[in-house]
Amino acid sequence: MDNLISLINKIQRACTALGDHGEESALPTLWDQLPAIAVVGGQSSGKSSVLESVVGKDFLPRGSGIVTRRPLVLQLHKIEEGREYAEFLHLPRKKFTDFALVRKEISDETDRETGRTKQISTVPIHLSIFSPNVVNLTLIDLPGLTKVAVEGQHESVVADIENMVRSFIEKPNCIILAISPANQDLATSDAIKISREVDPKGERTFGVLTKIDLMDKGTDAVDMLEGKSYRLQFPWIGVVNRSQADINKSVDMIAARRREKDYFNTTPEYKHLSHRMGSEHLGKMLSKHLEHVIKSRIPGIQSLINKSINDLESELSRLGKPVAADAGGKLYTIMEICRAFDQNYKEHLDGVRPGGDKI
Ligand code: GDP
Ligand code: NA
Ligand code: MG
Repeated sequence: MDNLISLINKIQRACTALGDHGEESALPTLWDQLPAIAVVGGQSSGKSSVLESVVGKDFLPRGSGIVTRRPLVLQLHKIEEGREYAEFLHLPRKKFTDFALVRKEISDETDRETGRTKQISTVPIHLSIFSPNVVNLTLIDLPGLTKVAVEGQHESVVADIENMVRSFIEKPNCIILAISPANQDLATSDAIKISREVDPKGERTFGVLTKIDLMDKGTDAVDMLEGKSYRLQFPWIGVVNRSQADINKSVDMIAARRREKDYFNTTPEYKHLSHRMGSEHLGKMLSKHLEHVIKSRIPGIQSLINKSINDLESELSRLGKPVAADAGGKLYTIMEICRAFDQNYKEHLDGVRPGGDKI
């Protein structure tokens, strides 16, 4: 199954690369059909922090205020061994091994599009991370939902952000990570509001409760975590991310995870829930769910890929072979990937016993 997910990641990258060249083809449609996980919630609810914990790496700009101002499409690729590195689509030949520089490039590339303002842009940044320490996932970090425009922002910003977020999460194949801070009333949660709108049955929404450590003394998140305040199809997952003070002191990810584990194991209120709390558990649940979605969708994805091969072939013959070397080369690459996918799918089917049980 790992192969299948990594193949899907490759197809997405190839499609995006092609899309960036402005070619018209069926491929954007293909891209749209593949599952991804998006993080939604109010400003400073902890979205970027949650993504970082799922990845297990420090690389995203975080902090109080409007930090994330462009969507970030992040693909995680599990590699068997070797040093982890990152690559941006807009810098194809540059390998980043220093993740502090990844963070800097995200914020520089944000500024290139918006200027050093508080404005937001709907144009995504594409980043891939290759590492032995990740699961294969595509994640999307989004600017936070807000209630009012602040100084330097256009009046329309509130609606602009909401529309942009909605455009990502309304796709039926988008798995939603609805981030709500535990120190605010769930009834006011922007994440819950917008995800309920696009996914009324909660079939693809994971509720994540952040800032459990910041709750008022004498209160706890047990009712929320047990689904008594707001019920979701999937159980709520509580996390404790690094505080701003931790970020300022550069507390590292490993220490933060260990502390998070200790927090749930040793806080009497949460002890009985600790096996399904924390960032590591969240990562595992997401990976499992993604595999389930891909499996259940294979026939659909398959016919789409067949369609794309046909479309690509007619497109190629229309172009009369390697005309524009670049565009042609990319099309061939995608066709190879599609064929590999085709093969992989057949192998997958061969692994299905008569009667439907998978080996
Ligand atoms: P975003 O705006 O939703 O992406 O939120 P960020 O991830 O940038 O976090 C906003 C601020 O809240 C940062 O200063 C984080 O350190 C802090 N923060 C996020 N999650 C937690 C948490 O679980 N506990 C504590 N104490 N602080 C958190
Ligand atoms: Na923030
Ligand atoms: Mg953010």
